[in-house]
Amino acid sequence: MIVLGIESSCDETGIALYESGAGLRGHTLYSQAEMHARYGGVVPELASRDHIQRVVPLIDQLLQESQVSKDQIGGIAYTAGPGLVGALMVGACVGRALAYAWSVPAVAVHHMEGHLLAPLLEVEVPEFPFVALLVSGGHTLLVRVDGVGQYQPLGESIDDAAGEAFDKTAKLLGLGYPGGPALSKLAEQGSPHRFTFPRPMVDRPGLDFSFSGLKTFARNTLEQHNDETIAADVSRAFEEAVADTLAIKCRRALQQCQLKRLVVAGGVSANRRIRERLTEIAEAEGGKSYFPRPEFCTDNGAMIAYAGALRLESGEQTGLGVEPRARWPLSEMEAV
Ligand code: KG4
Ligand code: ZN
Repeated sequence: MIVLGIESSCDETGIALYESGAGLRGHTLYSQAEMHARYGGVVPELASRDHIQRVVPLIDQLLQESQVSKDQIGGIAYTAGPGLVGALMVGACVGRALAYAWSVPAVAVHHMEGHLLAPLLEVEVPEFPFVALLVSGGHTLLVRVDGVGQYQPLGESIDDAAGEAFDKTAKLLGLGYPGGPALSKLAEQGSPHRFTFPRPMVDRPGLDFSFSGLKTFARNTLEQHNDETIAADVSRAFEEAVADTLAIKCRRALQQCQLKRLVVAGGVSANRRIRERLTEIAEAEGGKSYFPRPEFCTDNGAMIAYAGALRLESGEQTGLGVEPRARWPLSEMEAV
């Protein structure tokens, strides 16, 4: 079955074709980041309007490029949440309408399940069960994964998500939006020894995170210093603190679950230092870490087509009603 996947939960319109048994047939992405950059963050109304303009032409273009005709499409997967409701509504309505017109089933996909399963699109895939760390702009979650749809929450951020902390700290540094990749680039030039930022909540038991204090720490440090390397040094100290905190909690999660496989996904998992640190701790536990390729760490259509294909193949489908959800706990997912 060839599944058309549509992602529109935030500021990226992602389209992909996934064929069960054969793999990814094609994918394309339009990022609105430049449009939102001058506002310093995503403007929901502008995001929805832009998705409306892009989604159908992108589907047309991908079908042509991948030499797949609409008659070959066996199902449609669209992101139904969590995310910006107006933006979700666009992809969901288009996906639902195409499924109706083409008389194929459609399935509403959970955006974070898409991220979580993205590493399974790679050559070397983890076996179930594993511990997954999901680090994006909106979520920081540790989950025990026993199978598709079998998610047991272990911990989450009690305030800012890891990506949000990157973006807010980058803003303080005048790096624009989205700040994560820019901050990470600047950190390369920073000193690892000049400042040591706290590792929040590591001295307490449990697997929850808190990242909002790091942003405040960065602000205070910036107020106390004014020299040429301050932005790079703060970036480096911030990145080290996030990487270390994630590593400490992931190690604890592996030990608590007595598992050795660590899967890391979501936009922040594109970060090189974080990938290195998490690989080290998985290996220190005698295990292995798994990441998506960098372009599938951030939002994309491929992960939605893939997660949707697994659910459609199992016979699952979503009715005609379109009900995007701003919030949607991963633990509510049904096992496949
Ligand atoms: O998964 P994603 O594309 O969208 C959400 O579902 O939120 O994640 C976007 C987040 C942004 O906060 C962005 O700054 C962060 O991922 N990000 C990074 C890097 N690439 C993206 N953060 C740190 N280092 C990176 N290389
Ligand atoms: Zn995402």
